[in-house]
Amino acid sequence: MPEIKFYKKDNIPMEMHKVKIVQQLTLLPTKDRLVKIREAGYNTFKLHNGDIFMDMLTDSGVNAMSDNMQSAMLRADDAYAGSETFYRMNKKLTELFGIEYFLPAHQGRACENILAMRFVKRDSYAVMNYHFTTAKAHITRLGGLVEELVKEEGLVSKSDLPFKGDIDLVRLENFIKEKGRENISFLRIEAGTNLIGGQPISYENMRQATNIAKKYNIVTVLDASLLQDNLYFIKTREESMKDKSIKEILRMISDLFDIIYFSGRKFGFARGGGILVRDEEMFHSMEDLVPMFEGFLTYGGMSVKEMEAMTVGFDESIEFDVISQGPQFIKYAVDELDKYGVPMITPGGGLGAHIDAKEFLNHIPQEEYPAGALACAMYICGGIRGMERGTLSEERNRDGSERLASMELLRLAFPRRVFTLSQTEYVIDRVKWLYDHRDLVGGLRFIHEPKTLRFFTGILEPIGDWPERLAKAYIEEFGLDQ
Ligand code: F0G
Repeated sequence: MPEIKFYKKDNIPMEMHKVKIVQQLTLLPTKDRLVKIREAGYNTFKLHNGDIFMDMLTDSGVNAMSDNMQSAMLRADDAYAGSETFYRMNKKLTELFGIEYFLPAHQGRACENILAMRFVKRDSYAVMNYHFTTAKAHITRLGGLVEELVKEEGLVSKSDLPFKGDIDLVRLENFIKEKGRENISFLRIEAGTNLIGGQPISYENMRQATNIAKKYNIVTVLDASLLQDNLYFIKTREESMKDKSIKEILRMISDLFDIIYFSGRKFGFARGGGILVRDEEMFHSMEDLVPMFEGFLTYGGMSVKEMEAMTVGFDESIEFDVISQGPQFIKYAVDELDKYGVPMITPGGGLGAHIDAKEFLNHIPQEEYPAGALACAMYICGGIRGMERGTLSEERNRDGSERLASMELLRLAFPRRVFTLSQTEYVIDRVKWLYDHRDLVGGLRFIHEPKTLRFFTGILEPIGDWPERLAKAYIEEFGLDQ
């Protein structure tokens, strides 16, 4: 949206929607939160939603639906095979992306599973700007390797670079030459990097990177799960694109890729996913995997109601007024916290506000999972649930050694159209309080460490009694009932 101008005060981000249905929230007293986080094994994934005040874990499947999305659900056509809902969805995707062939899947990681099974061979490299947890897990499960070639500046916390998700083009070409194209499964571009602060990638960089891949006959894959934020940033930050409509930008991006997959829990604001495939033969080479692992080819494991909502959601995902709200609220939170001296990933990106936990808790060694500890501390101090995006979210190296994340982040996600500015102010206030009391926070260690995607199901314990001491200080500040 164009920034709404205020007469008497500085401009603030504005909601371009009104609230029609609400969900009541509860704020448990601090001493109860202390019990809940212990019961959750000091893993915020294991908290019950009813025990949370501000759920900023993710935007996945929790973006607010519009009235138009909800009403579209009523016309869902239930059929095992040949559902009209599927054809409507496929038609909309073809209209937006200009790609005819579509494989539905139950969510983004299911697409990653299909792509990995089709393209990954033992010791082959999937080359990308940066990995996402589930994308990497599917590749490594099949013996493949991940090569991350994001530009060095992308991993610097404080920056004013507009496109920190850009891939290093020189390293990309050198890597292909060094390993040989036959050892590369595909080039994967994540539009809106998840694990390094929701930082976008420029159109120009995508164009050049895909050109290099094409020169060597390497398949190009776009992970479009976070594309709506990235579209906003291309329009507002990339000079040569500012006069293009979001729809035009989307189409220009799409034209660069052989394959585009997405999580419909993010792109489309509902729950589901799918893979668009440009080439008919390539499409047929993956087709059989859908009925085998997902569901028949006209629903792919999705509810047809969700598919109808998503079809409307795709149009909303390219509406400037809709997609600007997330980045504007995130920028507001990041800038306010930055003013307070809290180490943030700057500039604010998409998806959420990201705190540099390595810096915030620089007294905790990375082996003791500072971002995980910060996530627990944030829940104790305010009932705010964020997501660890650091070493806990990494997989161990093949030899079993700990792989320290290049960025150790706590993500406070901003699901679209969900939180108000006063709720955002509350979060900023509690993060600042915690920052001023950061010395009270200690590390974590595993009691139960799963082999794959350990951050989802792992059980941890605090090193020392820091949660109790932190809760005591918090109660002294805010009283027993907060
Ligand atoms: N790719 C990206 C960039 C993602 O952010 C996600 C999910 C996926 C793929 C997988 O999609 O969840 O539908 O299976 N990200 C969620 C998050 C989980 O919280 O960031 P999925």
